[in-house]
Amino acid sequence: MDPMTTVATAKDTTFAFMLAAAARGHQCFHALPLDLDVNQGQLEVRTAPVEVWRRPAREGAMDDGWKLGEPARARVADFDAVMIRKDPPFDAAYAYMTQLLETVRDETLIVNDPRGLRDANEKLYALHFTRWMPRTLVTASPRRVREFVEEIGGRAVIKPLDGMAGAGVFLLNADDRNFNAIVETTIGEHGSRFGMVQEFLPAARVGDKRILLIDGEPLGAILRVPADHEARANLHTGGTAAKVEITADERRMIAELAPRLRADGLWFVGLDVIGGKLTEVNVTSPTGIQQMARFDGVDYAARVMEWVERRAK
Ligand SMILES: Nc1ncnc2c1ncn2[C@@H]1O[C@H](COP(=O)(O)OP(=O)(O)O)[C@@H](O)[C@H]1O
Ligand SMILES: [Mg+2]
Repeated sequence: MDPMTTVATAKDTTFAFMLAAAARGHQCFHALPLDLDVNQGQLEVRTAPVEVWRRPAREGAMDDGWKLGEPARARVADFDAVMIRKDPPFDAAYAYMTQLLETVRDETLIVNDPRGLRDANEKLYALHFTRWMPRTLVTASPRRVREFVEEIGGRAVIKPLDGMAGAGVFLLNADDRNFNAIVETTIGEHGSRFGMVQEFLPAARVGDKRILLIDGEPLGAILRVPADHEARANLHTGGTAAKVEITADERRMIAELAPRLRADGLWFVGLDVIGGKLTEVNVTSPTGIQQMARFDGVDYAARVMEWVERRAK
């Protein structure tokens, strides 16, 4: 995962996983991707034990904390489970990390499967399920962007394939004088990068639903509601979380996704759903579990850890 100092203890799903694991009697260890090394074909990691806590503090607030112990070298295959929780970007170091971890994929449980992580782009993966998606074009051609936006009625969003937390997501209106500049920003002036152009979903004003799945089964959901002056609903861009249910239609969609997710070893996944349409399948470090747990009064992280325990056996 990323350095412990980057963890927002009150919000991060990774911290909730650590708390849940500790509560169930497990010892957690922390490592960065670059702490891996391969010695004569054996995958090792320089890793420090990490102690985590959440204690009631004054006035109903919580006192969260963590402490790293002394780092030492260990064989990765000796751990009962490895959770990969590194935030994007999906760069060369990330790709190498998946290849290194792949060497022990038959010796320990890895969530998510390194092969699945490497194969699945969070934006493109949804294209396996176009039936559930808004109208979408992936292209590196500025001219195709213009044609597509006019074809679908003049309103769209454009996003980079490697973005997260709302970064680089623009509204695209056919009559906007900034149209070409926005397209250039995303895919390059002469089309040097792929980008995703998607029908604008008016339901985005209501919110972007995050549905967390474990092993293809819905765990829970939250709705992220965009701030008044903002098009993006990501919590990172000022969106606020609200309680929400998973609809019957969404359950049907999940049932269709599940076999593929399982085949790809994508065990812990966050779907983004706007107005019933699938826009993204988050696999690298999906979040939302703490907000979900507060709204529903359910310890969802404990459920994930239960699954990890069963599976690791
Ligand atoms: N097709 C769309 N129509 C309207 N708004 C969208 C659409 N796609 C994305 N958005 C808005 O942009 C935000 C980020 O989009 P998303 O595709 O989930 O990328 P990211 O990886 O940055 O989260 C969403 O929360 C939503 O508010
Ligand atoms: Mg998203």
